[in-house]
Amino acid sequence: MKVEYAERVKSLLKYIFVEIEQLIAEKRKEGVDFIPLGIGDPDLTTPDIIVQEMIEQAKIPENQNYPASMGEEFFRAEVARWNKVRYGVDLNPKTEVTHVMGGKEGVANIARAFINPGDTVLCPNPGYPVYSNGASKLCDGKPYLMPLEKENNYLPNLEDIDRKILKKAKLMYLNYPNNPTGAIAPIEFLKKAVDYAEDYDFIIVYDNPYSEFTFEDYIAPSILQVSNQHIEINSSSKMFNMTGFRCGWVAGNAEIIEGLRKVKSQIDSGGPIFIQKGVVKGLKEYKSKEKPDIVAQSIKIYEKRRNLLVSGLNNIGWKTDLPKATFYVWTQIPEKFREMTCFDFVKKLLDIGVILTPGTGFGEYGEGFVRFALTQPEERIKEALDRIETLLI
Ligand SMILES: Cc1ncc(COP(=O)(O)O)c(C=O)c1O
Repeated sequence: MKVEYAERVKSLLKYIFVEIEQLIAEKRKEGVDFIPLGIGDPDLTTPDIIVQEMIEQAKIPENQNYPASMGEEFFRAEVARWNKVRYGVDLNPKTEVTHVMGGKEGVANIARAFINPGDTVLCPNPGYPVYSNGASKLCDGKPYLMPLEKENNYLPNLEDIDRKILKKAKLMYLNYPNNPTGAIAPIEFLKKAVDYAEDYDFIIVYDNPYSEFTFEDYIAPSILQVSNQHIEINSSSKMFNMTGFRCGWVAGNAEIIEGLRKVKSQIDSGGPIFIQKGVVKGLKEYKSKEKPDIVAQSIKIYEKRRNLLVSGLNNIGWKTDLPKATFYVWTQIPEKFREMTCFDFVKKLLDIGVILTPGTGFGEYGEGFVRFALTQPEERIKEALDRIETLLI
């Protein structure tokens, strides 16, 4: 039998992380002790009150049956309450909230509901790869890459996009606080994006999984504070260190939510009820827009790591800006190595046992940059800095 992939699958680029993983596996055999600062998976654990709730809820027989694909009523009601206290936004849990098995699933499946072959999808670049791959290409859509450049604070320059492209656009993905750059978006930018969407008639999918991952006094906004015509995706993954539990939600415009529900009802049967119960337990800790202790404690730890890493890099001569949000530090590769691609630079760092993500892992406009993830304890970050210093002198 000849196995032939569909054209849309063939159009996916080779995942560059595969090559990095192979190199790591080889070097591990040689005994290299790696400090992994590549993958954005929290090393901190899910708050105890959430874990305890999930354990108790898993024992209850009704919670062992099929869940509803759109999420249980109690879950949608709590997500609506959370949006009210967190952003001051009113949502009808019956029609304006739906469950997803992690934000990633929402990002990808929303495109199935709205993208026809050849439709243009506006995707930030560098950006979360699912926007142009899992969402656009796997729906036979055409990703249009919006460069995120340092000079523009990593916001897309909407004025630079050709009107013909904007007219063909069906969806635009936006993500602030941003992966991989750590950038934030002022509410004025969100208003501008909403105006463009109205003028050119496209949907904004505001991907907001780092909404709580902000430092000092900064509080990230929601697109729903600006307009009820679009949707926002969030999840428990980063909020409560729950990446392994796969529970998120999409909120906003009822017609758009209905499209997503239709797609999902034909694909999945929802996420485990006991996990939804655990996430609700966490969300209930929110009494206002202030972060509750279970969230604030983790953010404090990441903030200390961020300060340590960024001041350490600057001290050893690697000029790096302090991000206001996310657990990522995005920086141009050091002067000394600017002749190299960021991929080759990352391979060089593997020789000293430090794993980073090359900027091009997030698209072509990431060339020249690398991303650190603050997912190691301070001692390991210090050790990584010592090792990196040996390369810079
Ligand atoms: C920008 C962005 N969107 C979505 C996700 C998906 O998160 P999850 O599916 O765990 O909710 C991630 C995960 O790293 C991300 O960085």
